[in-house]
Amino acid sequence: MEIWLDSAKIEEIEAAVRWGIITGVTTNPSLMMKAGTADLKTNTQRIINLVGGPVSAEVVSDDAAGMIAEAEKIVTWSSHVVIKVPITPQGLQAMKVISEWPAKVNATLIFSANQALLAARAGATYVSPFVGRLDDAGHDGMEVVREIATIFSIHDIETKIIAASIRHPRHVTEAALAGANIATIPYKVLQAMVRHPLTDVGLQRFKADWEQALNMSTK
Ligand code: G3P
Repeated sequence: MEIWLDSAKIEEIEAAVRWGIITGVTTNPSLMMKAGTADLKTNTQRIINLVGGPVSAEVVSDDAAGMIAEAEKIVTWSSHVVIKVPITPQGLQAMKVISEWPAKVNATLIFSANQALLAARAGATYVSPFVGRLDDAGHDGMEVVREIATIFSIHDIETKIIAASIRHPRHVTEAALAGANIATIPYKVLQAMVRHPLTDVGLQRFKADWEQALNMSTK
């Protein structure tokens, strides 16, 4: 499973990219707002320069014609840009057109396996089930990821599953076990993933023991 960053904040992306494990980034209008910018083009291009891989930029129109017009501009920004389109009837129409250009589509706001199946049939390269928001609403978000993975496997559908709306490290483990191809992860969760109290304790002990070994060998 690939590790992507779910953020539009340049400083977070720079820091995460330094770890050498990030192969893509997803943004959305809320993340752009949190990053304090409405300049989608400049920010997306800066992110692409940092990550050198797929970066999702979301359309905001309600109708297919508007989404397609936005996508026409967005695809000119970079070969790495992925058009993020919401799963609505209008969104499906737009996905079908955009994915035939060719361009890559990330179908977003997926909350059921059927929505993922429809997006895949409309040509989406990626589907993004929102695990955390399903959990928040009292559902089992990861079960939707499992269902999508099973359906795509049975029917040889190549569309990739991005586990999105990740809230904690356990979500990442479960997404990998459920068959997600990618997890797009907030920076805070990524930081929590690398930490373990036993690692900290272990490091302290190794350091202390090495000091003792040095003292013993100089006697
Ligand atoms: O990639 C989608 C993700 O940003 C949604 O996450 O935390 O707003 O549910 P959240």
